[in-house]
Amino acid sequence: MATVIKNGTIVTADLTYKADVKIDGGKIIEIGPDLKGDETLDATGCYVMPGGIDPHVHLEMPFMGTYSADDFDSGTRAALSGGTTMVVDFCLPDPGQSLLDALKRWDNKATRAHCDYSFHMAVTWWGEQVFNEMQTVVQEKGINTFKHFMAYKGSLMVNDDEMFASFSRCAELGALPLVHAENGDIVASMQQKLMDEGNDGPEAHAYSRPASVEGEATNRAIIIADMAGVPLYVVHTSCEQAHEAIRRARQNGMRVYGEPLIQHLTLDESEYFDKDWDHSARRVMSPPFRNKQHQDSLWAGLAAGSLQCVATDHCAFTTDQKRYGVGDFRKIPNGTGGLEDRLPMLWTYGVATGRITMNEFVAVTSTNIAKILNLYPRKGAILVGADADLVVLDPKKSKTISAKTQQSAIDYNVFEGKQVTGLPRYTLSRGVVAVEDGSLKSREGHGQFVAREPYPAVNKALSTWKELTAPRKVERSGIPASGV
Ligand code: URP
Ligand code: ZN
Ligand code: ZN
Ligand code: ZN
Repeated sequence: MATVIKNGTIVTADLTYKADVKIDGGKIIEIGPDLKGDETLDATGCYVMPGGIDPHVHLEMPFMGTYSADDFDSGTRAALSGGTTMVVDFCLPDPGQSLLDALKRWDNKATRAHCDYSFHMAVTWWGEQVFNEMQTVVQEKGINTFKHFMAYKGSLMVNDDEMFASFSRCAELGALPLVHAENGDIVASMQQKLMDEGNDGPEAHAYSRPASVEGEATNRAIIIADMAGVPLYVVHTSCEQAHEAIRRARQNGMRVYGEPLIQHLTLDESEYFDKDWDHSARRVMSPPFRNKQHQDSLWAGLAAGSLQCVATDHCAFTTDQKRYGVGDFRKIPNGTGGLEDRLPMLWTYGVATGRITMNEFVAVTSTNIAKILNLYPRKGAILVGADADLVVLDPKKSKTISAKTQQSAIDYNVFEGKQVTGLPRYTLSRGVVAVEDGSLKSREGHGQFVAREPYPAVNKALSTWKELTAPRKVERSGIPASGV
């Protein structure tokens, strides 16, 4: 049965044009004028775009003594409601645990997904087993990205030697390392000092993680990646110092990618000074929200192309969970939601304000992500043969964001009260209508794992160059006798 999306304007990362889109068997089969099908979806006045891809989510994540409250059911419902048709979650092995055992747990959790998904693998410890299993993960499990936490000392954090070993392994396997870039040693010391001084509220979370600790770690990760001969993806880039490091590296010819979150683009540090403890604690995440200058830097990076992706790092905790940290901000579970709001917030604060174009919007929410994660053109494209993961965005449709109407399982929303314009008229997941005019029609278990091949091009180029420029012993004739 063929479906035709009629009378819309197709908007991709590089083109804007009027055409119908015909879908069958979950794929786009034709693009052109006056197409006919068995079922018609009217897109008059709307933009037909590749569905959003969120490259950074944590659904049912074991973290800080609890689990993030949105699982693959509520999390992917939230995604589809907001026009996101694919999410990439992080598989987190426990210290000493086999990567493959951890992956079984994640496979199991994800059977509930309403939209397609993929995984990054985290390197949370180092040893021969991890070294060996990385190969299986890349070559047999369809995962070509490895996450490294430079923060969360005592739990997820890895040190420089471990990162260098893992990045070098990524280089061999054609995989891409990701980093959470904050100097975990300095953060831990600053946290202790703040607590000793009686600073135990949620604002101290922000004080303990200033922009400079993120800038330092971003720089360090970039140098380590360059030494290992591998590209690098920096998650949740939140400040000018980190952006500056990425910008400079790119100007110097390094393949470094930066990912601001919709939260950092639109919410600022004043959230932590609210008199209401719950209000501030609900917004505790790492890195913390920053000031307006940092926000301007991130917006400029998206427009200039020095930052490539907008994500959410969706990791939602209820108010009750946040209250684990009453009296000690270090125990407030770190994380905020945003899956349902990323596209409407970015449209409203980015496209409608003229900060970015519609095509840049598609690039940073979908196409660039698909390219960097090696999903393109199956995802992130409106092309014949691509998966029909689409959002028909109505630029006139608006709503006020409210926890009362959201899909997320938590009892608040960090964007509560924001008026957004630019909402899905339809969201399609592999050709199936998952959202129609605000009502959800998706099915639990419809989502499928999307395997990602290792990188053919970038790592090959880097390793070829590395080999050509490697230190070489100078062969000499006539070596003089030792001068002793
Ligand atoms: O605070 C955050 N970002 N929580 C989720 C885990 C992470 O660091 O990405
Ligand atoms: Zn992180
Ligand atoms: Zn994260
Ligand atoms: Zn369900």
